Amino acid sequence: MTTTAQEAAVRAVGTGHVRVEGRDKVTGAARYAGDIPFTELAYGWLVLSTVARGRIRDIASGPVLEMPGVVAVLDHRNAARLETDYVGMLGRPDPTCAVFQHDAVPHVGWPVALVVAQTPEQAREAAEALVVEYEPLPHDIEFTGDHPDAHPVDGHMPGVTDKGDLEAELAASATVVDEEYTTPEEHHHPMEPHAATARWEDGRLEVVDSNQGTTWVVGELASLFSLDPASVRVRSEHVGGGFGSKGVRAHQVAAVMAATILQRPVRVALTRSQMFALAGHRSPTVQRVRLGADTEGRLRALDHRSVSRTSTVYEFVEPSAGVARVLYDAVAHHTENRVVRRDVPSPTYMRGPGEAPGSFALESALDELAEKCGIDPIELRLRNEPDKGPVSGLPFATRNLRACFEEGARRFGWAQRDPRPGVRRDGRWLLGTGTAAASFPAGAAPSTAAVTAEADGRFTVRIAAADIGTGARTALTLVAADALGVAPERVTVRIGDSEFGSAMIAGGSMGTRSWSMAVIAAARDLLERLVPGMAIPAEGITVRSDTTAQIAALANMERHSYGAQFAEVAVDPATGEVRVRRMLGIFAAGRIVNPLTAHGQFTGGMAWGISMALHEESVRDPAFGGPVGADLAGYHVATNADVPRIEADWVDDTDPHDPVGIKGIGEVGIVGVAAAIANAVWHATGVRHRSLPIRPSRVLTAGSDA
Ligand code: MOS
Repeated sequence: MTTTAQEAAVRAVGTGHVRVEGRDKVTGAARYAGDIPFTELAYGWLVLSTVARGRIRDIASGPVLEMPGVVAVLDHRNAARLETDYVGMLGRPDPTCAVFQHDAVPHVGWPVALVVAQTPEQAREAAEALVVEYEPLPHDIEFTGDHPDAHPVDGHMPGVTDKGDLEAELAASATVVDEEYTTPEEHHHPMEPHAATARWEDGRLEVVDSNQGTTWVVGELASLFSLDPASVRVRSEHVGGGFGSKGVRAHQVAAVMAATILQRPVRVALTRSQMFALAGHRSPTVQRVRLGADTEGRLRALDHRSVSRTSTVYEFVEPSAGVARVLYDAVAHHTENRVVRRDVPSPTYMRGPGEAPGSFALESALDELAEKCGIDPIELRLRNEPDKGPVSGLPFATRNLRACFEEGARRFGWAQRDPRPGVRRDGRWLLGTGTAAASFPAGAAPSTAAVTAEADGRFTVRIAAADIGTGARTALTLVAADALGVAPERVTVRIGDSEFGSAMIAGGSMGTRSWSMAVIAAARDLLERLVPGMAIPAEGITVRSDTTAQIAALANMERHSYGAQFAEVAVDPATGEVRVRRMLGIFAAGRIVNPLTAHGQFTGGMAWGISMALHEESVRDPAFGGPVGADLAGYHVATNADVPRIEADWVDDTDPHDPVGIKGIGEVGIVGVAAAIANAVWHATGVRHRSLPIRPSRVLTAGSDA
């Protein structure tokens, strides 16, 4: 066993590599959760409540059980009792996926039954024929920023932070901005809908699923069903997008219940329409930002308050004010995230949870302050660069936001910009440019990995990582190759299987950073075991790592990725149409492992941002409590026609003290985009848009109160 000097000299990390599973994906050889065949497979179809609140009086399963192919109807009367009082991987118990436990209906779209049949068509027909009798109760989905029930909630960060005398500093400020910003309910809608197949084999539960982390799903299912986690295996080899929606949800739980009763494999897949209720969503937000600055544009007061909406089942907070705790300091600094419980489905993490809507409000307000102060928006931001964490007081591990703005301004041509709004035209189009800052935490969580030196000279890495379309499998191949000192072609990375040991989820932009630490640790230990010329036994030599201690030993610092977003828009004042003409994002995001897929993640995040700025909006009907037009025709996600040429690049962001120097890049790409576009629309038209999306009706009525 040797690694050639030639191989070791070539670094794989930092050079572009196509996805290792790319050929399988484009040829259709890659199988997704809903594609994998099982013998004796039965199909479950979820029946969702049609009332927005109430009780189930009766479910007429009898006639449906007589229908062709139907083998079972599960509901609260015959389903397994679940344990819901446990603390899972993401903290407090979340009973959102604890279906069929009682007769209460907390919102429209709550699962009330599962019909299982021999074919999906039979299951669907029977599910649609199932008569459910409800006792409807009055419901309330109304959500306003000044709702009296709003209360602060700690989610993945504290609900409130407070420093200094806000009112005194505002009163002493030369310039004040005090505005309200709103963002609508948004839905994830990854390309691949959720699907899970559950089966029991030799006393062990196996679930083949589409998720963002098999460790997470094992933990939740084991807790819910009171099983030993060692007797649960979850596989999730290929995932067609997640965006935060692919954790444990009703369909996996229902599939396990049915497989247990029927003692045969059962698959439950969601339809696109069901995803509006069952996949989670991003809550609407109402945010108030108050900024006070001195005559030089330096912040004396920063106040960012956000209210979001949650269900009566679970208090999930969209922590939009959190981004202000990282980006800017002020003499007096206040942030708070509050929620209002309403009769709606539980929201969840979605594409930069907190940072995405929060940066729209904060970075729009900064632009308004720049306008009022008569200071260039980039200059204003650079004057307010903090030298330590504004709330934490901790040093920044790296903070290269200034470099992002400087490089971005140069490449975008910012110096040539006329600061006056409404002066550039191209025929009937009004043109404008805007910018905004981005930041996103660069966290890491404990993970385990195994690396095997095979007898044939190859290496196999096993880690319960998830590649939800990000290119993580390829990134880990490059990381392992460098750690082992071999070419990536000699490394096989296997992921998406809980049998590989516990690992961080593909979430919070923490996956590749966390998994890389574990892969590098195992690879280093393995190299120490290998003696040049030694014979490798047939089963190979395997070394395992666990980064729990390494993560605990990381110095407490502010660790984030940063970015500067630039947008040019054209606005047609006759139709209200906004077109993004070009975008540039320059990021400082640690070591870039695979420039090819990293570019895709950054530009993909920026395309989400265009979608958020101009298109995505779910409108809930107060009468029936559900979204109007629950499909991708009624809910427009930006498509190729909406997305211009987007450029993304990065500046050097080396942290010599970090064990891997890799940061997350999954979410920073969306942060600030909506603000950059809204700021560009202001620059084009002279009108501020403080409510997303900036749809034609809003552009046409801008200036009036509509
Ligand atoms: Mo992400 S919203 O942390 O999957």
